[in-house]
Amino acid sequence: MAEKQSAKLILPGGKESSLPVIVGTEDEHAVDIRSLRQETGYITLDSGYMNTGATTSAITYLDGEQGILRYRGYPIEELAEKSDFVETSYLLINGKLPTKDERKTFSTALTRHSLIHEDMQHFFHGYPPTSHPMAVLSAMVTSLSAYYPDSLDRNSAIDLHITRILSKVRTIAAFAYKKSIGQPIMYPKNSLKYCANFLHMMFAVPSEEYVVSPVLERAVNQLLILHADHEQNCSTSTVRMVGSSGANLYASVAAGILALWGPLHGGANQAVIEMLEEIKTSGADYKKFLEDVKNKRDNRRLMGFGHRVYKNFDPRAKILKKMCDEVLSHLGVKDPLLDIAKSMEEIALKDDYFVSKKLYPNVDFYSGIIYRALGIPTNMFTVMFALGRLPGWIAHWKEMVEDPQTKIGRPRQIYTGEKVRHYVPIDER
Ligand code: ACO
Repeated sequence: MAEKQSAKLILPGGKESSLPVIVGTEDEHAVDIRSLRQETGYITLDSGYMNTGATTSAITYLDGEQGILRYRGYPIEELAEKSDFVETSYLLINGKLPTKDERKTFSTALTRHSLIHEDMQHFFHGYPPTSHPMAVLSAMVTSLSAYYPDSLDRNSAIDLHITRILSKVRTIAAFAYKKSIGQPIMYPKNSLKYCANFLHMMFAVPSEEYVVSPVLERAVNQLLILHADHEQNCSTSTVRMVGSSGANLYASVAAGILALWGPLHGGANQAVIEMLEEIKTSGADYKKFLEDVKNKRDNRRLMGFGHRVYKNFDPRAKILKKMCDEVLSHLGVKDPLLDIAKSMEEIALKDDYFVSKKLYPNVDFYSGIIYRALGIPTNMFTVMFALGRLPGWIAHWKEMVEDPQTKIGRPRQIYTGEKVRHYVPIDER
């Protein structure tokens, strides 16, 4: 990061303020306003943080115009093709690819920490079967801090908590699913790798042998890698905001899980399938649906389209579309929802409404169709996203905690309410 030039701000009344310009390693420019209020009394207003850099970060680079996404400098396309989720997690959290020994130590630690405290299983019984697994997941992740009270101390072993959360969230996610379908939970198996172990806990039953399909295992690895980080998105910013108050890793990640749940963020993968189902059930008239979207009927949106940052294409969607065809053809699955999705994409990419607003398929447009083919139920899609995003949240939390410049996140506002007025007792009003 370099500080090359400065920018001049001329305020009403002619007062001038000189502000440093910060330049990132990929030549991204920012006007540094950290001293603005102190020097001028002014703040900036930026709802939705469309133009606000909340931090500097060395984790992920993304260029929305060019469709570039890199974790620690490595292109997402290379990682999705050649790496696996555990190695990518190590990369995001530690800033470098592991050596063979580091990889072995990391994998062993993840395997050793895969169980959750037996008492926590009682919590699962307390939820109704209709509970959304994101509600269960967030509550369980917060509860982990109760089982590891040393996490409340900022100086406790961060690496240990990181290993614990990375391993246990997978177990909690699978247990939540088993509970929702009324099946007995399946304990993790130490002989299995991270993603295979997850599939085992999700789909094995005590009465028969379950052999993890290498194709499914590879698909889950790729899906999780594609979701692993996306710089300062809504949930990651939430993790940083909550963590900036000194809250422990489990509490901060639980907050990120809740932010992810919304349909405009991670909940979009579920919303896409629900949208496609609705179109199919009502006669597959996707053209009419698209007209309704364009006319903003009932505030409809084409779910899985559009992105705050990508304005050209989402590189993850490109990989996923190809993967979707491969996985479905390998499994011999013919999904009518895929045909509807493809037809809608084809029309939207040529339609002036979507083109002029730079709306393209995002990571969620095809991921749900792959999850369905893998046998993962719709209400678990956002849980899968959370599992993938976990190393990103952890990496950002760690970067923030270790940065001596971190301050508690506390935006300002422009007040638009009443001026001072005085209390009048109820009988006199
Ligand atoms: N379908 C139809 N119109 C859309 C869509 C969409 N999917 N997305 C944006 N628009 C329109 C808006 O109506 C708005 O139109 P207007 O200028 O006439 O008012 C314009 O495009 C700009 O939209 P904003 O909501 O202001 O754009 P923003 O950058 O704030 O939103 C977002 C980005 C939330 C992703 C949006 O595109 C959206 O709602 N998409 C659908 C939900 C979705 O797929 N979310 C997943 C995002 S990826 C992720 O989180 C992993």
